[in-house]
Amino acid sequence: MATNRTFTMIKPDAVENGHIGAILEKITAAGFKIVAMKYTQLSKRDAEAFYAIHSERPFFGELVAFMTRGPIVAAILEKDNAVEDFRTLIGATNPEEAAEGTIRKLYATSIGENAVHGSDSDENAAIEGAFHFSGREIF
Ligand code: PPS
Repeated sequence: MATNRTFTMIKPDAVENGHIGAILEKITAAGFKIVAMKYTQLSKRDAEAFYAIHSERPFFGELVAFMTRGPIVAAILEKDNAVEDFRTLIGATNPEEAAEGTIRKLYATSIGENAVHGSDSDENAAIEGAFHFSGREIF
């Protein structure tokens, strides 16, 4: 995947609370082009693999349970400086620390249920995008 791309998930809390449309609107209004998207649900095995880097952290079980409890929207987004600009758009991991107007400030409820995921590096964006999408699903 090119380095002008990032990967995101609209997490189960935001889906349950009816925020898919508003979040996609914020993303496209900020200049991101959606080049792949799907509505899906992670299995326990999927979530454990996706978040394997955090497997030793104390909240790992909670994170896997949360991310598998309902559907998510997974997407690959394209824009210059995509990874950094998307992290700015979503705000800090903990919504209490997120800047005004960011997606997490607007739609997240807690550090555990924080509405959206955004890749933290170009390398991880490529890995995470490939985890969810085949080449034929990216436009
Ligand atoms: S980050 O964005 O990767 O730097 O944030 P980090 O603090 O390393 O968190 C990694 C992911 O774990 C989630 N997280 C938590 N889940 C449950 N409980 C607690 N306390 C908690 N703290 C962090 C956080 O939302 C990150 O998920 P993603 O999907 O990467 O945003």
